Amino acid sequence: MKFNPFRPNSIASSDLFQGRKEEMLLIEQSLFQTKNGNPQHFLVEGERGLGKSSLFLMVEQQASGKIPLRNSEKVNFIVINIELDSTQTFFEILKTIAADFKRALSERDGIKKLASGVWDFLSNWEILGVRYHKMDENLIQPYEILNELVVNFERVIKQAQSEIDGILILIDEADRPSEKASLGELIKLLTEKLSKRGCDQVVIGMTGQPGLIAKLKASHESSSRIFSVLTLKPLSDDENKAVVLSGLRKANQINKEQTTIDNEALKLISQLSEGYPHFLQEFASKAFEKDVDGRICIEDVKEGAFGVHGALKQLGHKYFNELYFTQIGSDEYRRVLQAMSQFSDSWVNGEKIKNEITIKDTTLNNALQALKTRNIIIPNPGHIGEFRLPTKSFAAWIKAFYMLDEEPFTGNYAEPENEQGTGE
Ligand SMILES: Nc1ncnc2c1ncn2[C@@H]1O[C@H](COP(=O)(O)OP(=O)(O)OP(=O)(O)O)[C@@H](O)[C@H]1O
Ligand SMILES: [Mg+2]
Repeated sequence: MKFNPFRPNSIASSDLFQGRKEEMLLIEQSLFQTKNGNPQHFLVEGERGLGKSSLFLMVEQQASGKIPLRNSEKVNFIVINIELDSTQTFFEILKTIAADFKRALSERDGIKKLASGVWDFLSNWEILGVRYHKMDENLIQPYEILNELVVNFERVIKQAQSEIDGILILIDEADRPSEKASLGELIKLLTEKLSKRGCDQVVIGMTGQPGLIAKLKASHESSSRIFSVLTLKPLSDDENKAVVLSGLRKANQINKEQTTIDNEALKLISQLSEGYPHFLQEFASKAFEKDVDGRICIEDVKEGAFGVHGALKQLGHKYFNELYFTQIGSDEYRRVLQAMSQFSDSWVNGEKIKNEITIKDTTLNNALQALKTRNIIIPNPGHIGEFRLPTKSFAAWIKAFYMLDEEPFTGNYAEPENEQGTGE
């Protein structure tokens, strides 16, 4: 048995984490500004599996002083780190922030002593105690709670000034609550109340999938203007390779049996992943699993990727089978998607698709209409006849499938489709 260092299903630990230098630099600057009384809130947008939560874990560790900043300085923030879900209301979000504020304080004895009033308040606050369960949510004034929070942020910063540089509120999965939860309004009110009270050492970092900004705007037009927006991109080829090599270093510290990787194999993992960290972990993990002689070669990567329980199948189960197999019975329609994947998530028209594959006009038109109706491709509102794939990662997954010219695992997912399609 060998310890496998790759983690396709969980957030990257700091020893596996690579890249994101620009983003971390900007966030470090934001922490530095906040420490000095000019908070610069940040919002990180990125597709599923691109590494948003992993980035926030690094930020949490830096902000709380567990690991130094790049210039080897240390900062010391109280870090509230929450993850939202689709069921939460405005009130529930505030309560989650308050509960994590209490958790963060409970871990810091020094601060708890300096700001004992705040700790006592949080310990007895009705919304955090058992009594809340007996309370009718309609009777609770969310704005009161918001005020109480602000007052206590201010108190802790004043009273523990000698110990801390500020408070960082990290909100992951911020796109998930419904528009009714009015997260945009909540954030706008929170930041305004803090500045009115001159409490300028509280900074908010938020992350979510593309569409988050529009959602925030829907509940408060100017809420998104509070943030500097960072858009996560796939990792570079060098960063992909660095992730794999750092995993192997970790494995070699733990396993007696050492593992190396051939350059070609490393290159193929990087190519297949197209820089998607989740894909990278999945391909690397499967290649590591396939290796039996302590040297990961190109065959191990291929078997790991294309095998029966291989990486592409795993990624399909997690994200794409519904779009690519369950909803489509026709191989012709899949070929259209394959052609579109060459353009990632950019707009393409019929001409461009026909440059990639040989297909009859009627089949192509039927395919485009059917794929549009099933929300598998998105029509360009400004240009009739132009479409795109919904995400870059869907395109990367389809491309990986066909990279070695091997037939993908078709069939058994859906009945063959009527060639006429559904049309419109
Ligand atoms: N910078 C990185 N270096 C190495 N591995 C990474 C990096 N970022 C993310 N990963 C890995 O990629 C996968 C996805 O990461 P993570 O869960 O952070 O993404 P996410 O954007 O939060 O995804 P989701 O939208 O599904 O929550 C995990 O397996 C994680 O270990
Ligand atoms: Mg995440």
